[in-house]
Amino acid sequence: MKQNRRGFLVVAGAALAVSGLPLRAAGAGKTKIGIVGSGNVGGTLGGVWVKAGHEVMFSSRNIEHDKALAARLGGNARAGTPREAAAFGEVVMISVPYRALPEVGKDLADLIRGKVVIDTCNPFVGRDGEIADWARKKGAGLASAELLPGALLVRAFNAIGYTRMGAAHQQPGRIGMPIAGDDARAIAAASRLIRDIGYEPVLIGGLAMGKHLMPGMPLAGERTPAEIRKIAATLT
Ligand SMILES: NC(=O)c1ccc[n+]([C@@H]2O[C@H](COP(=O)([O-])OP(=O)(O)OC[C@H]3O[C@@H](n4cnc5c(N)ncnc54)[C@H](OP(=O)(O)O)[C@@H]3O)[C@@H](O)[C@H]2O)c1
Repeated sequence: MKQNRRGFLVVAGAALAVSGLPLRAAGAGKTKIGIVGSGNVGGTLGGVWVKAGHEVMFSSRNIEHDKALAARLGGNARAGTPREAAAFGEVVMISVPYRALPEVGKDLADLIRGKVVIDTCNPFVGRDGEIADWARKKGAGLASAELLPGALLVRAFNAIGYTRMGAAHQQPGRIGMPIAGDDARAIAAASRLIRDIGYEPVLIGGLAMGKHLMPGMPLAGERTPAEIRKIAATLT
């Protein structure tokens, strides 16, 4: 396991120069991103991805909220139901309270199977109840994979406050984004989107290592890519 993880760490890329403001997509063109959960995290990241030139569909159980959000962001943003967003996205980001994941996983099962899915969700027992206790014991990466079967999952954006998520592009590549995933294609797709909004993705390992991507853990907060690699090397 250690060797695999070290192998993963070597794969993590070098800092990428994304041009300054206004944001411009630095990856291979526009990506369609479907966002399920358009609250603090989904709304913020979706907004920065729109500014970076991607097409974003926001969704939640409140279409009026999502229509208003999309209208504020302009032509590259739209609103839909969670199923419409999951169908729309070449990449889907799920950003809901953890207690909603079982229902979201069932509702979207046929649409997210084989699709790249970014999982920002964190289990908190106080907020999410029993499912969070189960997920913490299992490890959040493996738990999310069980709740979203067949999705090509990448855990990312889990341990940085949403108020900072729109700021990384001001100093591209300075702040690292620890990520965990098992599928190389999904890791590459998520990494492109992460770089496009100014973070340098640092793969810390497979989904089993996703348990370390939570608030209150050693990797939480804003750190340089080098700091993340150093801390990740101590984790098992
Ligand atoms: N806040 C942070 O700084 C932060 C940072 C990193 C990670 N996270 C994690 O990311 C996730 C989202 O956090 P947040 O702060 O963005 O939460 P939030 O502001 O409460 O937003 C949650 C979103 O999910 C939607 N939602 C809830 N249940 C749903 C369902 N069954 N189907 C579809 N949409 C549903 C909500 O809208 P409706 O209720 O109207 O459907 C809302 O749009 C959480 O798991 C959190 O732990 C948060």
